Amino acid sequence: MGIHSKILIIDFGSQYTQLIARKIRESKVYCEIYPFNTPLSKIKEYNANAIILSGGPSSVYDKSAPVISKDLFKLNIPFLGICYGMQIMAHLLGGEVKPAKNREYGHSKLEILHKSSLLKGCGKSSLVWMSHGDVIVKIPKGFKITAQTETCDTAAFEYPEKKFYGLQFHPEVVHTECGTNILNNFLFEIAGVKGDWKLEDFISDKVAEIKEKTGGAKAVCALSGGVDSTVAAAITDRAIGGNLKCIFVDNGLLRESEAESVMKYYKENLNLNVKLVNASALFLKELKGVTDPERKRKIIGRLFIEIFEKEAKKIKGVNFLVQGTLYPDVIESVKVFGASSVIKSHHNVGGLPKKLNLKLIEPLRELFKDEVRVIGKKLGIPEEIINRQPFPGPGLAIRIIGAVDKKNLDILKKADAIVAQEIKAAGLYDKIWQSFPVLVPVKTVGVMGDKRSYESVVALRAVTSVDGMTADFAKLDYDILRACSSRIISEIKGVNRVVYDITSKPPSTIEWE
Ligand code: XMP
Repeated sequence: MGIHSKILIIDFGSQYTQLIARKIRESKVYCEIYPFNTPLSKIKEYNANAIILSGGPSSVYDKSAPVISKDLFKLNIPFLGICYGMQIMAHLLGGEVKPAKNREYGHSKLEILHKSSLLKGCGKSSLVWMSHGDVIVKIPKGFKITAQTETCDTAAFEYPEKKFYGLQFHPEVVHTECGTNILNNFLFEIAGVKGDWKLEDFISDKVAEIKEKTGGAKAVCALSGGVDSTVAAAITDRAIGGNLKCIFVDNGLLRESEAESVMKYYKENLNLNVKLVNASALFLKELKGVTDPERKRKIIGRLFIEIFEKEAKKIKGVNFLVQGTLYPDVIESVKVFGASSVIKSHHNVGGLPKKLNLKLIEPLRELFKDEVRVIGKKLGIPEEIINRQPFPGPGLAIRIIGAVDKKNLDILKKADAIVAQEIKAAGLYDKIWQSFPVLVPVKTVGVMGDKRSYESVVALRAVTSVDGMTADFAKLDYDILRACSSRIISEIKGVNRVVYDITSKPPSTIEWE
């Protein structure tokens, strides 16, 4: 990759760590996140212009608290500690941290006490976002306090001669009024980096890197119709053209006419070398009578891998596998309180097993989703693919509650097309994280014409979300809901009732299965 400034974020398990990274990249500065227990040698090798220590849920004096080596501070580069990051800095450099009388969570008014390069341009007082249970009661030697809030005497401190800075509040969240300003001060004034991370350069750098890495060998790629695999394939295609062989497995669980339209697009617009494998019948056969969501996922995942493997083996001289892995999948998440339980075992085309024995090409592994979208646009991929709402690997199978069969699939495909049309017509498709129908094969009584009907229910699900981890139900206009409802009932045989799901995540999940 070209030479540019680099920031390193050390993660102590804060829910906001990725947000820090996003903010920094928005300022056109490249950064990566390493877990707190990364060896010092690897940190040195990264050669950062400056280091940011993230927040985290622990207390520095907990036995199991995440710690870093004190030697890190001898690197002679600027440091910014945020929340827990500030406390660990204080703790390691000779200060003292104690539990606060009251946990502080939410908005606070920050008052600046001394002129500071970090807080330049913030105004004498402004709102900041606090979330902490401990406070610094003694600052280390050489430091001075530069800002306070009503309940926190050490809201910001610094040792400018060494370029060490700390903030008890979170500059990365929108609720901190001058947060972006503070981060930019740290990057450009204090660390003196340049905003030279350009996504245009990224494409040409990656193309060169892939060319060199493959050295004339072939690569294989599983396309899903989604933005990640499409962009990954398009970049690789620029590098190795005819040596990239793509495989698109139609599992029959895709949206109406999706396989045809995506294939046409891959061939005609992107000029990709892609083979369509129609395996719909096999998937339906293996899913027959299966009602348990996890079993459905396992079957679909297994079949996909088997089919892909078989097809990949038919191509002679393949050494590489292209995957659309994104940065959030790569970051080793710091789990201070132990692993979280498996709620759904996700399957997608990124999950191909190591036993394929192919070397990986992952052109997007440094990028966040919105950066992939920008790159996709630069590569000339149309909005229709770029701005697609996420679609789960197991497809419509997890949107039919209970057993999947051809009849139910046909009903759901039609309902899905109607919902997509109505949401697009209302100009909401890009504003909503996901919007889709779920087929609930519970029969209820209705009246159509003068006749009694006894048919299935369709539930509409539409949510807003930033990352799919949490979500809120979309407050759709009644007119849009009515349009979906009346079209679904009048255009689809077998449905006589439409309901709207008004639960958020948590406690529900986005998909019903
Ligand atoms: P849930 O239902 O867990 O969904 O709230 C969160 C996000 O993940 C998608 N999803 C999946 N994606 N394979 C996937 O590739 C899966 O098995 C799967 N299950 C859920 C879901 O559509 C939402 O965007």
